[in-house]
Amino acid sequence: MENNIACSIIYFLLFLLTALLFYISKKQIWKDIQKAKLPPGSMGWPYIGETLQLYSQDPNVFFANKQKRYGNIFKTHILGYPCVMLASPEAARFVLVTNAHLFKPTYPKSKEKLIGHSALFFHQGNYHSQLRKLTQSSLSPEALRKIVHDIEALVISSLESWSQNNQVINTFRLLKKFSFEVGILAIFGQLDAKYKEELNKNYSIVEKGYNSFPTNLRGTAYYKAMVARRKLNQILSEIIFERKEKKTVEKDMLGNLLNFKDKKGQTLTEGQIADNVIGVLFAAQDTTASALTWILKYLYDDQKLLEAVKAEQRAIYESNEEGNKPLTWAQTRNMSLTYRVILESLRMSSIISFTFREAVVDVEYDGYLIRKGWKVMPLFRNIHHNPEFFADPRNFDASRFKVAPKPNTYMPFGNGAHACPGNELAKLEMLILIHHLVTKFRWEVVASRGAVQYSPFPIPENGLPSRFWKETRSLTDP
Ligand code: HEM
Repeated sequence: MENNIACSIIYFLLFLLTALLFYISKKQIWKDIQKAKLPPGSMGWPYIGETLQLYSQDPNVFFANKQKRYGNIFKTHILGYPCVMLASPEAARFVLVTNAHLFKPTYPKSKEKLIGHSALFFHQGNYHSQLRKLTQSSLSPEALRKIVHDIEALVISSLESWSQNNQVINTFRLLKKFSFEVGILAIFGQLDAKYKEELNKNYSIVEKGYNSFPTNLRGTAYYKAMVARRKLNQILSEIIFERKEKKTVEKDMLGNLLNFKDKKGQTLTEGQIADNVIGVLFAAQDTTASALTWILKYLYDDQKLLEAVKAEQRAIYESNEEGNKPLTWAQTRNMSLTYRVILESLRMSSIISFTFREAVVDVEYDGYLIRKGWKVMPLFRNIHHNPEFFADPRNFDASRFKVAPKPNTYMPFGNGAHACPGNELAKLEMLILIHHLVTKFRWEVVASRGAVQYSPFPIPENGLPSRFWKETRSLTDP
């Protein structure tokens, strides 16, 4: 009896001590926040802030100049929102990883409406982690292994068609078509051509609206996009109906979404499935196409590097009986130079220059206050181009990746709970495309001054106009 009383007293004292410590630490955090000052920087004009300055020049120059002037953390006001920009690896990690719960993903409502509110990008917590697990497992190395041959077939037929008629083509535009088809493959497996065509047609209209002024006026790009978005739901509904009729259990992304049940046995609604399918297609297409366009440009600009990549790929080509045997997953894991070229291209081009979050409470970071409701932008590109982490950052040097970059300094695919689940697929399609391009084809870039254009991600001017043709001489000829 006495023992029980002593135990209860000890538990009670422990409880009091924990509560006291919690109270003190909360008070301390609150005091720190009260003491903290806003980061340096200028907020520009009332309402419009510095939006005009941002859009009247290359956004990357805008951010780089700000960083030079104010340091790694600075404030500004763009697109109607006060923002804090973060240009250090530690700050990016603070927002995206260690204190991610204090910052929520944020997108303009008009864009969220077009993709669909239930897409995983817009969520945090349980719903997000369930959908993320489903997406990640559909794009895991185990799942990708199974589609190497299908991606290879797509690569070969794309290159064959680009190289016909000796025409100058917009490389980015064709790579967009290619990455869309790879996205379709990852989501649906083999899909009927009529559905592919319908999805592509309506998706292109949605995309045009995504980058236009949001208004519900009939005839505008945004209005048409909303109509096309509803049509996409109908097409997906038909595809799902057909699958259910066939009663086959597919292991692709759509199959995983359809078969999902949470702990309470709840399944996903058709609307939730549609939003996530469109969301993944959206995330997969322009990103991969922009990155691939840059890779082709960097390789073309450095013929010595191209020869070295060719030599690496030629060895694999020869071991596959002059391309008569298909590429294997293991071979794609064994293309070290080509892989480093991809990593360096992603660093140099930093196509996702930054991302957005919003502070859900007042947060103190490094003595500065980030106010609740302010947008927070980790600047990936500034970090990738900081000479402290990447020597001579403007120079394309694939060999720098012989050594792993310092932690949190290399984030082409983001970091933390929302980091890109499609990164392995993106790299796989790049490796396979490079393999066939350099072993069987040649290309020539036509009329490129090396300028950058935004589409919305940075791409070489005019989509890198190029001419492709088939190598006639056998690679093993002397
Ligand atoms: C070179 C190609 C790609 C790049 C550079 C890229 C980059 C990124 C980045 C930086 C993020 C994180 C954004 C943030 O934290 O706000 C992200 C998220 C995402 N990416 Fe990618 N991505 C690429 C290709 C792909 C592909 C091929 C897919 C799918 C097949 C994909 C699907 C997604 C999805 C679904 C998300 C949202 C994840 C979440 O919110 O949990 N991406 N991507």
